[in-house]
Amino acid sequence: MSNATAAKNSEVVIEARALHAFVVAIWCAAGSEAREATLVADHLVEANLAGHDSHGVGMIPRYMLACREGELKLNAHAQVVRDAGAVLTIEAARGFGQVTAFEAMEHGIERAKSLGVCALGLRNAHHIGRIGHWAEQCARAGLVSFHFVNVAGDPLVAPFGGIDRRFGTNPFCAAFPLEGRTPLVLDFATSAIAAGKVRVAYNKGVDVPADALIDSDGRPTRDPGALFSDTQHGALRAFGGAVAGHKGSGLAAMCEILAGALSGGFTTREQTIVSTHAIVNCMMSVIVDPAAFDAPSREYEALAFVEWLKATRRAAGVDEILLPGEREDATRRAREAHGIPVDATSWAQIVDAARMAGVTDAQIAACERNSR
Ligand SMILES: NC(=O)c1ccc[n+]([C@@H]2O[C@H](COP(=O)([O-])OP(=O)(O)OC[C@H]3O[C@@H](n4cnc5c(N)ncnc54)[C@H](O)[C@@H]3O)[C@@H](O)[C@H]2O)c1
Repeated sequence: MSNATAAKNSEVVIEARALHAFVVAIWCAAGSEAREATLVADHLVEANLAGHDSHGVGMIPRYMLACREGELKLNAHAQVVRDAGAVLTIEAARGFGQVTAFEAMEHGIERAKSLGVCALGLRNAHHIGRIGHWAEQCARAGLVSFHFVNVAGDPLVAPFGGIDRRFGTNPFCAAFPLEGRTPLVLDFATSAIAAGKVRVAYNKGVDVPADALIDSDGRPTRDPGALFSDTQHGALRAFGGAVAGHKGSGLAAMCEILAGALSGGFTTREQTIVSTHAIVNCMMSVIVDPAAFDAPSREYEALAFVEWLKATRRAAGVDEILLPGEREDATRRAREAHGIPVDATSWAQIVDAARMAGVTDAQIAACERNSR
């Protein structure tokens, strides 16, 4: 399928394995070592499988531009710059977040297993993507985790009551592993919607939900161009809306400071605005071994609560009460079976980025042959 054909259709639907191989080919062509290309592909395709297209393969064009600008450093690794036992400070030096956060979690998991807990500051990583991915890495090791993240120097969100952009979409994530079951993973941007979801809406030419955006004068708007066109300077709102926006705004501010200040990285302000295509994340993670608590009944208590929660009477039109992580799980199953949809604009941009890296037409055609 050519770009022109893709553009006529509204989307392509690609089998996960073919998409993974394509992403590996792109980053190998760009200069990544094979392990790096694989970790990036694991992360991006996993984000699409989980239904978070805002953090999936659609990020590749921006990563490629940041790479060309020398702002995203290929083949860089996480460096422990301070080891204080249960507290680690880790420098990512603008290396791929998909690599440096993975390595940071490996350090944190090892430390939490030996000491019961590890607090870890990761600084100056290039985009660490879907934060749930890191919580799932901890959960696979049987560990509970919390993650506070800032999008350093990229203000897109107005604080509660404000009009001007002051902080990033600063995600928060918490996860609880369960024996033999998928972990509970709560993972969200503290903005009303993730910026990447506004980008996807802009590319598709559709409106964003009400209450997510304001224009440059603070008026509510559903036009994604308020954030992504060159001429408008609107802002995202913090989650919580008119009644509870103070909670989203407050959590975003705490993410900014816990991640940006405590990691030794930086917080967002006029002097630190990142004006390139790079996305810089800092993260403060707390990783805890549940086996270190005197809580032999923790699984029973957690599952008994889940049963009680799900047994509620439901509002009209609601089929099931969901737990954190269940929506992603259902989407993962569906997309593993039926493929990953990528809107035509994003696909054309990804193919352009692939060509820019030196991927051949034959490799592009091989991926597109697996589209449905
Ligand atoms: N790296 C970065 O700079 C950055 C910045 C912002 C966001 N992100 C990522 O963007 C992704 C998308 O964020 P988002 O704000 O659009 O997520 P979202 O609004 O879709 O919320 C997702 C969370 O809500 C849970 N959930 C959904 N429906 C539920 C229900 N009915 N009951 C209970 N829980 C429910 C999901 O399981 C998930 O944990 C996240 O993975 C986040 O980490 C990354």
